Amino acid sequence: MKTKLRTHSCGELRIQHTGQTVTLCGWVQRSRDLGYILFIDVRDRYGITQISVKSDEQPELYQLARKLGREYVISVQGTVAERESKNPKIPTGEVEVLPTKIDILNEAKLPPFLIENETDGLEDLRMEYRYLDIRRPKMAYNLMLRAKVVKAVREYLDEQQFVEIETPFFIKSTPEGARDFLVPSRLNKGAFYALPQSPQILKQLLMVAGMDRYYQVVKCFRDEDFRGDRQPEFTQIDCEMSFVSQDDVLNMFEGMVKYVFRQTIGVELPDMLRLPYQDALKYYGTDKPDLRFDCKIVELNEVVGGTDFGVFNSILETKGLIAGINAKGCASYSRKQLDALTNFVRAPHRKGSGLVYVKFNEDGSIKSSVDKFFTQEQLRKIGDAAGAQNGDLLLIVADKLKSKTRKILGDLRLHLAKTEGWIDEDAWSVLWVVDFPLFEEDEESGELTFAHHPFCMPRPEDLEYLYTDPKRVYAQTYDMVMNGNEICSGSIRIHKKDVQDKIFEILGLSETERQEKFGFMLKAFEYGAPPHGGCAFGLDRWVMLMAKEHSIRDVIAFPKTAGGRDLMMDAPAKVPNEALKELHIQVID
Ligand code: AMO
Ligand code: AMP
Repeated sequence: MKTKLRTHSCGELRIQHTGQTVTLCGWVQRSRDLGYILFIDVRDRYGITQISVKSDEQPELYQLARKLGREYVISVQGTVAERESKNPKIPTGEVEVLPTKIDILNEAKLPPFLIENETDGLEDLRMEYRYLDIRRPKMAYNLMLRAKVVKAVREYLDEQQFVEIETPFFIKSTPEGARDFLVPSRLNKGAFYALPQSPQILKQLLMVAGMDRYYQVVKCFRDEDFRGDRQPEFTQIDCEMSFVSQDDVLNMFEGMVKYVFRQTIGVELPDMLRLPYQDALKYYGTDKPDLRFDCKIVELNEVVGGTDFGVFNSILETKGLIAGINAKGCASYSRKQLDALTNFVRAPHRKGSGLVYVKFNEDGSIKSSVDKFFTQEQLRKIGDAAGAQNGDLLLIVADKLKSKTRKILGDLRLHLAKTEGWIDEDAWSVLWVVDFPLFEEDEESGELTFAHHPFCMPRPEDLEYLYTDPKRVYAQTYDMVMNGNEICSGSIRIHKKDVQDKIFEILGLSETERQEKFGFMLKAFEYGAPPHGGCAFGLDRWVMLMAKEHSIRDVIAFPKTAGGRDLMMDAPAKVPNEALKELHIQVID
């Protein structure tokens, strides 16, 4: 830490430093004047150290110390002493510094919010004064953790012979399903660069170039609607390997995540489950299941028939799906709680038509919302199929769309876990979800779009359906899911021109469009493209989870707000007409 201005950081001094003369620099976190003594907490990103000044022994220093406002930048020279009343909550809590000299290095205006972990600053204010927000220990910790994660990633990949290669930002569209950010070219009138949504095509071309193992810690740009886990610019750890199978890629990056956890937060992750996409949907109602708690979805079509309950009968007839989840220990739910769950299911974005409940009471009795239609024996049979025991609450949803039943139950499962406290916040659920479908059908238009991106290799056994029934084709794709969040996505790629061409055709790209957008890539595939595959981690999301935050904004130094604005710089902003003219651009109201 030693520089001309300081000898130690504010997080460094311990009991063994007692008696040493030190100089600390930092910000005044707070000062407490008790009259006969004044305490100053001085803070830097390493910690907080207490300074104490006795008014009778050092009247001049005491007068100076009284003038220090919050967030003044000061330098304190003095002697380390053992504290009378120790503070076990902070690492420096056993000592204090008895100053011989205090210098004000800079004054500060009163900050607009509390610079402490628990701040009174609302999001917008924190964004406008982000440099103050980052002084809060939690934010500083998050940014330092982020740096450690990247460092560990580099160590691991370097050891595995990966080469870090930069790819350009001013390129042609690299599609990942979002809108492009465009940059007008002054030198090429009417033409635009697209900022990369990811370096996908470029990293594949690096494989054609023989670079074999590539990675990059890289900004990606996507003009999409914002959510807590999305930013218009975000960082990927982007990787690609040649001459690999899917298992090789999964093993390599599972190893990387384990290494990073060990090196940064000292957590040993167990081997990761590889869960087929179909099973993820079937048992958890989502392709990013949180397995920190169990509560699987149970399909009940086989055991709910043979009654007069019209709702179920019509779903059985249309070959829909009736399924449930067993809420352990929730049989005592009140009418009000059950109504709230029904409303949850019927929320406008879920569009469920209702919820059947069956209470398996502690005393062995059974009470349900369908008592009119089901005998106790029938309810018992359903309960057995779902593994319900006395004290449990079975919640059943039916819909003619299987995907809807699953989605609703998946949401309900998570909702219950949160409200019932089923999630151990110290636990980690990290797994691979594998074998996604190659295409997704747009629910409204019925058009096929790519599920991940258009470069994923179909599974060999599905290749034949590419031409006859593309919806049946599964791809060699995989996501890593951490505590219910997708933090990494990847695939084995197509490396043959004819297959890639066919995929573009299925996606509805005409010959001309294919040439225009991807001609350079198809051309490269004619010059010896090796089999290859890879993946990309969303660094922001990964660090957010490791830091136990709920928004990726809390692990990004200068993020955008939900409206896509930088409130500190006030961007995006209007530019002078002259600048637009040079770019051959006219703004139309
Ligand atoms: P994908 O589009 O799934 O794959 O992105 C990879 C990972 O990046 C993160 N991510 C985001 N994080 C913050 N804000 C965003 N707007 C955002 N969008 C994505 C996610 C995601 O898992 N080229 C492929 C990877 C490959 O196939 O190798 C790609 O970009 O955590
Ligand atoms: P209804 O016939 O709409 O009066 O519904 C009778 C009961 O069945 C109510 O308790 C509804 O909540 C429930 N219900 C209706 N539709 C569904 C459905 N699709 N899935 C599960 N329960 C349903």
